[in-house]
Amino acid sequence: MAKFCDFKILICDDSVTNVMILSKLCESEGFDKVKTLTDPRKVMPVIEESDFDLLLLDIEMPHMDGFEVMSRVREKYCKETLPILILTGLQDVDIRNRALSEGASDFVNKPFDQTEVLLRVKNLITVRQAYQLQQNLNHELELKVRMRTEALNRATETLIHRLALAGELRDNETGQHVMRVGEYARLLAEEVGLPEDVSFMINKAAPLHDIGKIGIPDSILLKPDQLDDSERHVMNSHTLMGAELLGDHDSLLIQLAASIAKSHHEKWDGSGYPNKLSGESIPIEGRITSISDVFDALTTERPYKQAWSIEAALEHLQAEAGKSFDPTLVQLFIDNIEKVKLIHHAYKD
Ligand SMILES: [Fe+2]
Ligand SMILES: [Fe+2]
Repeated sequence: MAKFCDFKILICDDSVTNVMILSKLCESEGFDKVKTLTDPRKVMPVIEESDFDLLLLDIEMPHMDGFEVMSRVREKYCKETLPILILTGLQDVDIRNRALSEGASDFVNKPFDQTEVLLRVKNLITVRQAYQLQQNLNHELELKVRMRTEALNRATETLIHRLALAGELRDNETGQHVMRVGEYARLLAEEVGLPEDVSFMINKAAPLHDIGKIGIPDSILLKPDQLDDSERHVMNSHTLMGAELLGDHDSLLIQLAASIAKSHHEKWDGSGYPNKLSGESIPIEGRITSISDVFDALTTERPYKQAWSIEAALEHLQAEAGKSFDPTLVQLFIDNIEKVKLIHHAYKD
């Protein structure tokens, strides 16, 4: 806790004698950071340059009276951050009431009783001290909460990332596939104008698109030959299984991941699965991930196929625009081909 001597006092009175008496008085009590002014016009510049904890302010002064000074001070500083002790020779009750209602914290009459002045100064400093203490505690608490929240967010992100890797490893994919899908998805999200935090979450959630494959038996998931109808049906259920696995959670990130798992095989023309949604009734995160996933699958080598060239993959996207894919998103993807290439190279297998 700050000691009395750490608090800074500013005294403004047009009478040099008063200023001297008051500053000596404060110093005698251990306040050694006292600044004095006899020109009220200097109050604002001085407190703007350096923080003070108490202002002793005369009312009747030339150029600018104490009310004017107080109103300017109160535009920027509240009673808690800068208390004002008014010094007044005016005995008028209306004037005192006006001073209190316009932001004075307390007042003393002139000529002052030295003991009274000191008691009022110490009272105001004590209140200021308590306020500062409270502020510091609040600040510390905020800092702790923020650090814990950040740690929790990092843990969630890490778990989601690891979960995505676990899912893709079962599926003969490489870890880089899910990373690239996340990056392409973020790029599309940003380019289509989604807010930065949503794009960030799509980046983290898109890698989980195939997490439901964890629940598909190896005999189907890893079958080298064509799947028959019933096997195809089981395979397609990875969408719903993924959504179910991720579940219904308060976390927007997990909700987004569940939505992507469910909708990344829907097609623009309504011929996809599991719900045969079409057009904009397919959630945008699903439409984005669908393009990102297919593009990456085409442009990378798999055990059963060579990697397509980027140009060939783009031709495929274009041919499927309006059929499999949202045509606006396909166009955005093509328009940003340079950024796409950067991602393709940065996350090479
Ligand atoms: Fe999938
Ligand atoms: Fe995938």
